[in-house]
Amino acid sequence: MARMAPTLAQLFALLKNDEPSDDSEIGILFGTSSEILQAESPAGANELSVREAEVTEWLLDLQYKDSSVSATENESSSPEKDSDPLNKEGSKAIEKSPDYIEIYLYLDKTSGSSKNASPKSEEKSLISEKGSLESKEKQKESEEKSLISISEGSLESNEEEESLEKPSDSSEKGEAPTPKPKKSVRMKCNENVSVSVSEIPSKPKLMTLKSCPSVGMSLESFDQIDNSPMFRSNGAGGNGESNAMVEEAWELLKKSYVYYKGKEVGTLAAMDPSAETLNYNQVFVRDFFPSGLACLMKDPPEPEIVKNFLLKTLHLQGWEKRIDNFTLGEGVMPASFKVLFDSHRLKETLIADFGGSAIGRVAPLDSGFWWIILLRSYTKCTRDYALAELPEVQRGMKLILNLCLSDGFDTFPTLLCADGCSMIDRRMGIYGYPIEIQALFYFALRCARQMLKPERGGKELIERIDKRITALSFHIQQYYWLDFTQLNKIYRYKTEEYSHTAVNKFNVIPESIPDWVFDFMPLRGGYLIGNVSPARMDFRWFLLGNCIAILSCLATGAQATAIMDLVEERWEDLVGEMPLKIVYPALEGHDWRTVTGFDPKNTRWSYHNGGSWPVLLWLLTAACIKTGRPQIAKRAIDLVEQRLSKDGWPEYYDGKTGRYIGKQARKYQTWSISGYLIAKMMIENPSNLVMISLEEDKRIANPRLTRSASFPP
Ligand code: GLC
Repeated sequence: MARMAPTLAQLFALLKNDEPSDDSEIGILFGTSSEILQAESPAGANELSVREAEVTEWLLDLQYKDSSVSATENESSSPEKDSDPLNKEGSKAIEKSPDYIEIYLYLDKTSGSSKNASPKSEEKSLISEKGSLESKEKQKESEEKSLISISEGSLESNEEEESLEKPSDSSEKGEAPTPKPKKSVRMKCNENVSVSVSEIPSKPKLMTLKSCPSVGMSLESFDQIDNSPMFRSNGAGGNGESNAMVEEAWELLKKSYVYYKGKEVGTLAAMDPSAETLNYNQVFVRDFFPSGLACLMKDPPEPEIVKNFLLKTLHLQGWEKRIDNFTLGEGVMPASFKVLFDSHRLKETLIADFGGSAIGRVAPLDSGFWWIILLRSYTKCTRDYALAELPEVQRGMKLILNLCLSDGFDTFPTLLCADGCSMIDRRMGIYGYPIEIQALFYFALRCARQMLKPERGGKELIERIDKRITALSFHIQQYYWLDFTQLNKIYRYKTEEYSHTAVNKFNVIPESIPDWVFDFMPLRGGYLIGNVSPARMDFRWFLLGNCIAILSCLATGAQATAIMDLVEERWEDLVGEMPLKIVYPALEGHDWRTVTGFDPKNTRWSYHNGGSWPVLLWLLTAACIKTGRPQIAKRAIDLVEQRLSKDGWPEYYDGKTGRYIGKQARKYQTWSISGYLIAKMMIENPSNLVMISLEEDKRIANPRLTRSASFPP
């Protein structure tokens, strides 16, 4: 049986107390990734060649370009595309960058990590919510102290921008295990019984205004993903019931695998035999993200499916994409794809949707960002740097970024979007500059910054990325931030101000502030609002954008802390009986009619309009760990464990507190399953966080924000 992993507090303590022991190894390596791999281990070099050989088949696929109007796979190559110099390099599996130097600091913690773990202290910290408020506070403080000292210690040793470190020994590489041949199995599901949920005890209000010492916590403390057995329990380190749920989740996830030419390339969005399939039998890029992460965090990791997915979707990006007579940008990634068996050609064929078949006919702006972020997670987990260094992969990244960084008429660094271009893929009034896309954009820019090589226009692109990262973080931190003080300022805004001296930069009319915000805004806490554009601030809370802003460090440390404060203060509204509200509050009445266009699927407190989405649990958990508040995540996980499996893993829940299974929700929704698994694995082994979190970029001069009452100095 898997052993329990230590808590966050224990992990910090272990890392803090551990002087490098005899087995510890500190080394600084200079060179390209492949050079490092080869210098470190000749065996590693052989494994590299095996990997090169493995991808060759996929590279052949990548050379095929399709000109099909219906966006189905066509294996004849287009002469126009073949003339692309990058395509010609398809056979060069790994390209070396002579002027790419990476400094890698490696601290082996394995020896010390298992020695000091005490199951007792684990219990204390993870089940802290059962204790008194005071002891909870004390425990938090001691955790926070550990965070600070770790942060200080590690910052001394690594002050450069975080990069994808190279391993010093082949066993640390997390090499892809040889995939076993698998078959896709159609599952049969039983109808599920709903259970009554006990009332959530109302939490006493904490009125202390204090900034969280976890701000500035360094992820470098987690930089080595701990693969030792005690840290690896695949999420089944809880009680009997929760272990059974974890086991069921792994089984279901496996059943959702989609195969193409014998290789697993993704997961189905849902496997609900009782509902119309619609497009839920497809592999969605955004839905695969948590599935992919689950496979990476698993013990042993299953990175093959992630690699195959990344390469297959890259191949799809290369198709010519048309909707009616209009050709979409080269870099657009599909929203989803499916594998069909072509009975004429007697072979499998791929069908992809770039938005042309989606309900709103909008291209998925988020797909390319998720793809880049997943590529970094894969690299961080496996240390297989060769994949990201492939010319085709570099090209794919550049194409995605070119779509976003090209010159235009913009006066803001944010990306202008159509309604329905992301997880909320129907009309919901998120057009303009939605926080979800801005946060993903920022995250992807920073991930790409770590992986892009300077050759072939990469250097210029990196310069553009750097400028955009700086401008975007300033813009979001300055103009999207809302807390009690800021709200009060906006409430008293003057209008009709011109020139750069204007305080009310976007000419927001204070009368447009909705009534609910005044009640919703706690004295302690704050958040990044949904959208900012001329004379328009969308004050709604969107969980995904706020969590991604924390994980990517788009939000400042103090803002990240305040966001978590808000989640605590508004638990009933944002979490309720089933985590987590995708957006708060719901649009009702006239607003619902005008903003959604009378959308019957998006009625109040349902689906995208204030519905509760279990998949979001992983994002909250990651943000909680990053801000040093694992106990909040634990509380949300407990809620999920009361119902999710018994209800058949629904896609979303309805109602103001998320009590009812969503009206049109699919059951056995894969990302509800994988989101739960990741949350469990991150809580049990917080070092998993490095796969989806970035350190603060120290080169960005943070704008001096006026501190509000929520952030006393
Ligand atoms: C729904 C969601 C979308 C998701 C898709 C597949 O349409 O709105 O975000 O990708 O289902 O699960």
